[in-house]
This record gives sequence, structure tokens and C-alpha cells, in this order.
Amino acid sequence: MSPQVSGGKVAIHFEGEPGDTRTVTYADLQEQVNKAANVLTDLGVRAGDRVAIYLPMIPEAAISMLACARIGAVHSVVFGGFSAEALRSRIDDAEAKLVITADGGYRRGSPAVLKPAVDEAVAQCPSVDNVLVVRRTGQEVAWTDKDLWWHETVDAASPDHSAEAFDSEHPLFILYTSGTTGKPKGILHTTGGYLTQTAYTHYNVFDLKDGDVYWCTADVGWVTGHSYIVYGPLANGATQVMYEGTPDTPHKGRWWEIVQKYGVSLLYTAPTAIRTFMKWGNDIPAQFDLSSLRLLGSVGEPINPEAWIWYRDHIGGGDVPIVDTWWQTETGAMMISPLPGVTACKPGSAMRPLPGISADVVDDMGEPVGPGGGGYLVLSKPWPAMLRGIWGDDQRYKDTYWLRWPQYYFAGDGAKYDQDGAIWLLGRVDDVMNVSGHRISTTEVESALVSHPLVAEAAVVGATDEMTGQGIVAFVILRSDMQAGDDAVAQLRQHVSQEIGPIAKPRQIMLVAELPKTRSGKIMRRLLRDVAEHRSLGDVTTLADPAVMNLISEGLSHGDD
Ligand code: WT7
Repeated sequence: MSPQVSGGKVAIHFEGEPGDTRTVTYADLQEQVNKAANVLTDLGVRAGDRVAIYLPMIPEAAISMLACARIGAVHSVVFGGFSAEALRSRIDDAEAKLVITADGGYRRGSPAVLKPAVDEAVAQCPSVDNVLVVRRTGQEVAWTDKDLWWHETVDAASPDHSAEAFDSEHPLFILYTSGTTGKPKGILHTTGGYLTQTAYTHYNVFDLKDGDVYWCTADVGWVTGHSYIVYGPLANGATQVMYEGTPDTPHKGRWWEIVQKYGVSLLYTAPTAIRTFMKWGNDIPAQFDLSSLRLLGSVGEPINPEAWIWYRDHIGGGDVPIVDTWWQTETGAMMISPLPGVTACKPGSAMRPLPGISADVVDDMGEPVGPGGGGYLVLSKPWPAMLRGIWGDDQRYKDTYWLRWPQYYFAGDGAKYDQDGAIWLLGRVDDVMNVSGHRISTTEVESALVSHPLVAEAAVVGATDEMTGQGIVAFVILRSDMQAGDDAVAQLRQHVSQEIGPIAKPRQIMLVAELPKTRSGKIMRRLLRDVAEHRSLGDVTTLADPAVMNLISEGLSHGDD
């Protein structure tokens, strides 16, 4: 399937945000991975040990992941936008022995720091023996006796390393994702099946050809970066672009400038980005030559038909295929997607399961709904890149995915079939929000809020947001014994950002006197969502005290921030 790749072929065209570039060939990549593998081994990392990776979008992220794979160590990449506390809990849960990080990275025109968060986390994580630090920005960093510079160790290491062979079921990585409780789940993936499906789908869904230049705009901190920056494309010997920064730095045409510069032919991004570009205006992409693009991909959330059509017309020149790919951290690779040249597309539909994949839409009883029906998306047969469990928590694995219907994997998404049997994804049906294609649990944000001394109780919902898909809206009851200043809302938003990361910062916090609860004490999120989306309230007859909703609606005009 994969083409024979010569060492001189470019693996990664790296573009830093400030405009610095690096060309990494397959030969360079192998040498770097070998050197890093030797350093990891020297530091005592053995097959099965866990390594946490907390890096910006630079080639060392891919190199570190592959060096782990080469020696059978299990990587756990933590998105660089997560807070010290989020990093600490992930290092701790996996008992990582080594952390690979950088002094910082470039974002929005200036260097952002990463190392201080690592210092804070590692100080509380006894499992960590060493921290390997890439110098990216040259900022001053505090140093501890566990720290080693990448350029002093990896650059000096031997380029010779013999890859070890491992069983196809050997663990490859853990990747944390939000579930319906406060604690993220460590999704465990193994080697053989995962590589098979990421390579197969990358090759066929993108219709990969030898001269292609591929660009996936995700961060390696998410599963899209694992499967469609690192494992799938590199297994297929593809040439790809890796970009460090934000789309609007130093100007709003940066992405299109990159497409033009490298002749990108395959672009894979998220609907939230497409909607942002729509808002910025047609004239921005129109200033660049985008004629190299021959296929566009979408992932992370349902793509609305308007965004689909805009993407095809203004980025794809009107006639390129668009593949809307449905999958999850748990599935490891694409599951439902059109195949270019095979499947006719409908704007907004992920269409059908890929060859070899069995998906269905079922009702509450687990009965298939058939054409025209709606219900829950399930996967009815195992697949190669299937998660093998939740790290350290078998019970949670069973409860989350297999409790509802033992014969199906429960994906957590609502879906419907149209009359032709094409699948339309309708968003999550559990307490997981999807903000800009990122999964965030309502409970996780609630726990962060109640950990603040001012807060007595909190309820969080995902409200429809034109730009980000969903936006986080929090309803908060302050403690009556604490003196809250006028800046309470700002303080709380900042607190959530510190506890989890800026992506979890609520769009809006409403200070309320009470929360709507059923007679059994369960918070009625449906009502809160109605309030957050400015809808008239539906049925409130099961509410313990229907008058509560009046208070909440009043809070709307005061709590806005
Ligand atoms: C959830 C998984 C898949 C990598 C990025 C997100 C939603 C993902 C689509 C799509 C509609 C989608 C689902 C899914 N989702 N792709 N093409 N159409 N919804 O991975 O963080 O594990 O999130 O993202 O709700 O369950 P993730």
C-alpha cells in the first residue's frame, strides 16, 4: 500500500510562527528518532514505561513520540495549552518517568512559556526522574537537577539505534480525553491495529498520491495530531506541512500563504476554523493561489452545510471533494467518511462507514432505526484501531462504552439516517461539550468552579455557538459567607483557565441564587441550556420549585461578562 520512500524525501516542512523554517527529510527524521531513542534508553526509560510529552508544534513532538515507539515506551502527549494542574494529573495518573517539554513556543506573535508549568507539575509528581527540555524560544528558564537540554543530549547522541520488535498488542500511547465525570480518561491504544487503520484511512480517504503535500492543522496534543500528523502520514511516506502558530499571526491570511508557499494539495482542518475564516471574509483567501488544493477534509464536530459549501467554493475553488470524517480519540482512526471518487457527498453528512467498519443508528432499546430514523450512533463490530481500555480503570471502560447495550460500542453521539441511508451526526448526547472541536466535560468545568473559595455550587452547559459549535456557559451560586467583589465573574473565568486551560474558560458565567433541580435533586441541564440559548423554557413540571427559573432568567441580564 505505502509507496517506497527514499530517505531524501521531505517528511516535514516545518513553519514556525515567526517565519523560521526547517526541512526534515525521512533520513533526518530517522536519525533524530534514533538519537532520541538512545537518550531515552540512557535515561533509564524501558519498554512499557510512560513518557509525558508537553511540547509546542515543532518537529521534536513527532520525534519524541516516534522515539518512544521505537523503544516500546508508552507516550502520553499533553496539549501545550493545558494548565500545570491538568498536566500534573495526567503525569500522575500514568506515573510517567520522563517529561519531554520545551522552554516555550511561539503563539500570537510572542513566545509563550511551557517550562514553568512543567516545574510546577513535576514538583508534585514523584514518578518523574528527568525532564528533557527542547530550546525553542531561548527564554530564560528555571533549572532543576532533573532537567536536561535536548540539544546537549539528543544532538550529541549516537545516530545508530536498532529498532526493537514488539507484539502488535504492545501499548503505543495513552491519550487523555474528557468523559462525563471530572476526571479525564486515559485512552489506551496499541501498536499493530492502530497503525494499520491510521495508514489505511490516511491513504484512502485522502486518496494520497506520491507528489502530494499534505497539511493537517491540528495540534499533536489531540488524537487528530497523533493519527493524521504522526502515525498515518509518516507510515505512508507522505510529505507534510507542520505549522506552529495561530491562523491570524502575523495576518489573517497566514494559512493560505502557507498553502501557496508549499503547494499544499490535501488540507485537513476543523469546522470551527472554517467558520472563523468565513467571518473574516472571502477576500482574504482570494489573495492567495490555492489552486494546488485538490481535496479538503473536516473533522472534530458536525460541519454545517453553509461552512461545507464555503470551504469547497472559497478554499477548494468550487470543485474539490470534501471528506467529512467522523471518529474519536477512542476509535483511533477515521470510521465514517466519504471516499473521494467513490462516495457521492452531501454537504453536512459524514455519509457511510468506511470499508471494514460497522456503524449503525439505534433507538433507546438498541434497535436499528433504519433509513429516515434518528437515535444513537453505535459501532457494531470491533475495528483495528479500537481503544484497548482506559488506563488503570477497567470498570470505567466497561461502564462508559458497554453498559447501555452490551453488544455495541456506545459512541456518545446522536445521529440520524436520511432516506438514502447516509449518516448525519447530531452532536454529543452525554455531558460532554464540543468547543471548537475539543471535548470538554461539563463536570470537569463544574469541579474547577467549585474548587474556588467563592463558589457554593455550579452547573455548566454547552450552548450552541455560531463560531465554536458550543460555548461553555456556567451558572454559579456564590457562597453567602464570602464577600464577592465586582470582578467575581472575571476571577472565576481566570480560575477555570488556571485549573484546566484557556480552552475551558466559560464564555459566560451567570451568578444565580438557585439552580433548577428535579425533585430527586438532579440539576436540570436541559432548562439551563434553554436559558443559555435564550429559548423560552419548555416543560418545567418536574422541577422541584418552578419559581427557580425566574431567578435564573433574571441572572442572565446581570451575569453576562
Ligand atoms: C467527538 C470526538 C476525531 C478527532 C477529533 C475529535 C465529534 C468528531 C466529527 C464529525 C460530527 C464529530 C463527535 C465525537 N466529532 N468528528 N466529522 N462530525 N462530529 O476527537 O476529542 O475524541 O472527540 O467529536 O462528537 O464523539 P475527540
